[in-house]
Amino acid sequence: MRAPLCLAHHGTEVRLTTYLVTGGAGFIGSHLADALLAEGHHVRVLDDFSTGRTENLDPRCEVMRGDVCDPAAVRRAMVGASGCFHLAAVASVVRANEDWLGTHRVNLGGTITVYDAARALGGVPVVYASSAAVYGNVSGVAREDATPAPRTAYGADKLGSEQHAGVGLLVHGVASVGFRFFNVYGPRQDPSSPYSGVISIFARAIGAGEPITLHGDGSQTRDFVFVADVVQHLVAGMQHLADRPGAYLLNVCTGRETSIRELAEAIGVATRRKPVIKDGPARAGDIAQSVGSPRLATITLGLHERTSLADGLATLLASLSGQRSLERV
Ligand code: NAD
Ligand code: UD1
Repeated sequence: MRAPLCLAHHGTEVRLTTYLVTGGAGFIGSHLADALLAEGHHVRVLDDFSTGRTENLDPRCEVMRGDVCDPAAVRRAMVGASGCFHLAAVASVVRANEDWLGTHRVNLGGTITVYDAARALGGVPVVYASSAAVYGNVSGVAREDATPAPRTAYGADKLGSEQHAGVGLLVHGVASVGFRFFNVYGPRQDPSSPYSGVISIFARAIGAGEPITLHGDGSQTRDFVFVADVVQHLVAGMQHLADRPGAYLLNVCTGRETSIRELAEAIGVATRRKPVIKDGPARAGDIAQSVGSPRLATITLGLHERTSLADGLATLLASLSGQRSLERV
């Protein structure tokens, strides 16, 4: 079923492969699609556009509008693909708290639908988005061998996705890499949605002189990882599966933690605006400390460099202020 085309490139033969990106119209998925296109691959996107946007997509992407929980749609989208990057999900922890069953349908049900199509098509490798939310409250730096203890429906479904990936290899021969993304930020993360990531919300509001809300006392920490680094991991993960099939679980993080209050101050410094802070209630199930070890991913994939928060914030703020176009950043 796999049908790579061949083309001449710098005098050597390069394989033009098709990759399926579920959730490819979203924040992380659209950056991944850009990177795959830049490498000369054909990119097929399956997305229901619930949070994804057409403007995020390079027109060279082949777009299939559909639900990742629909087995026929997923299978159609995967036919001929050499690999599947599965990113479609309801990415908001708060939304999963509000709609337990609805988000479970997508975040676990959609993921098993992807694995099942991969099995039916002869073992298409799958690189998928798990989350640091599987760890729950780990004290200190979270390594992949820590016992997972999710505190939210979102984290529980991501843990379920990892466990089904293990079954996918053992029973069905589907190889996978599950990436436990910590808190990803960068251009195209929707700054207008209250369900979006904290950096995009704070960057827009502080830049506009509007108040921000600190949920809890603001001492909770996160490990903020820039979207370009996440894309590098995803691409390297797919390459790794081609060489060494297995079922891997790897953190995507920097190893540095920042409290939410420090984050607000850093954005205030970068935008030269003093943040106007409102206190809000702590969110249900909110994790107190989240910082990961990047060591295993570094060793496994050979990725040594990660963007500093200062540099990543500068890129994000430049894109928000229009110094660089939001398109294809
Ligand atoms: P996003 O909301 O921008 O992207 C998710 C995409 O999935 C959107 O384009 C959305 O329209 C699509 N989608 C949602 N439900 C769908 C369905 N039923 N069928 C088809 N498409 C559907 O979020 P993101 O931040 O880019 O997240 C991408 C992935 O990374 C998700 O799996 C998320 O859980 C995971 N993740 C994100 C972060 C982060 O900090 N942003 C951290 C850890 C894990
Ligand atoms: C985020 C991701 C989730 C991912 C997880 C991995 C989003 C929307 N969520 O969840 O997909 O799996 O990281 O670690 O990208 N906060 C405020 N004020 C605000 C918004 C947030 O104080 O206006 C606080 C929250 O209470 C939380 C922290 O900032 O303590 C981060 O919140 P958020 O960006 O929503 O991310 P997570 O819940 O960590």
